Amino acid sequence: MRCKICGKKPIIYMPHHRLALCKEDFILWFERYTQRTIREFRMFTEEDSILVAVSGGKDSLALWYVLRKLGYKADGLYIHLGIGEYSERSREKVEKFAGKLGGKLIVVDLKEEMGGIPELERVSSREACSVCGLVKRYNFNKVAREHGYTVLATGHNLDDEASSLLANVIQWNVKYLGRKHPVLEEEEGFVRKVKPFCKFTEKETALYSLLNGIDFIEEECPFSEDATTLFFKDVLYKIEEKFPGTKMRFYLEYLRKVHPKFKEKKEGKVRPCKVCGEPSPADVCPVCRMKEKVRGIKIISDGA
Ligand code: AMP
Ligand code: FES
Ligand code: ZN
Repeated sequence: MRCKICGKKPIIYMPHHRLALCKEDFILWFERYTQRTIREFRMFTEEDSILVAVSGGKDSLALWYVLRKLGYKADGLYIHLGIGEYSERSREKVEKFAGKLGGKLIVVDLKEEMGGIPELERVSSREACSVCGLVKRYNFNKVAREHGYTVLATGHNLDDEASSLLANVIQWNVKYLGRKHPVLEEEEGFVRKVKPFCKFTEKETALYSLLNGIDFIEEECPFSEDATTLFFKDVLYKIEEKFPGTKMRFYLEYLRKVHPKFKEKKEGKVRPCKVCGEPSPADVCPVCRMKEKVRGIKIISDGA
């Protein structure tokens, strides 16, 4: 096999694109393809100010790097989740990377604000990953709004998107399916959310990061992704092995043919939370309710 552009020895073969590329041409292709995805879904323009949510992992750091390389105004947001050493190490990676990139980084320390994920899990009926997702989404929106960013970008890749789509199709989780799109437009207190890497596989983002010397955190969060997510990623991996290109088609054909039919039908009105002002399904939002519970426990244990 040869690189399709220059004929040199390839570093990667992407069956879903029927494309083999050498190191230099893969890097160029990756950046152009990001730009194409941004334009295809009308995610943002050079006029927008973008906040990239960076976890310290390969996807989000590469995203921040590429957006700046493409000339977009992009700053970083890191949420310190208070998950012991893991959070400390990922914070270090993000801060070091921001320094090298010369980009502005906003850090939210959850432990100081309301308590880390382990404490929040204790006061909630949800599992750690679910609490974590809720609190992250809340802070993404809040910080972006407070600092006047017009777009919030995350590093979700094709494997993330296709596996969560499959898991939700299996359950016919229609409410979720309406929100499964790489662009969620700005509305009622929500900033626009975008996923410019939604058409790259995990392997592609990992390779791009490695080739560009991006120092990312490889270890998984100790709570790890829940078993269901991993299971569906594995199922898709097996299907892809047998029928290359299925994962990409499954996701893109969903966006083209099915998503328009499932566009979110608003269930109940969103209103500003009475405590924090963020959009909420009830008078007080779930995050403020958790904050209250943590505070209650602290007061009791301090008094004891
Ligand atoms: P995950 O939900 O861990 O698969 O992460 C999906 C995306 O959310 C990442 O690509 C990041 O853009 C963002 N993200 C995850 N964790 C954090 C964090 N602690 N701080 C900021 N952004 C994050
Ligand atoms: Fe959120 Fe692990 S990163 S629970
Ligand atoms: Zn609130």
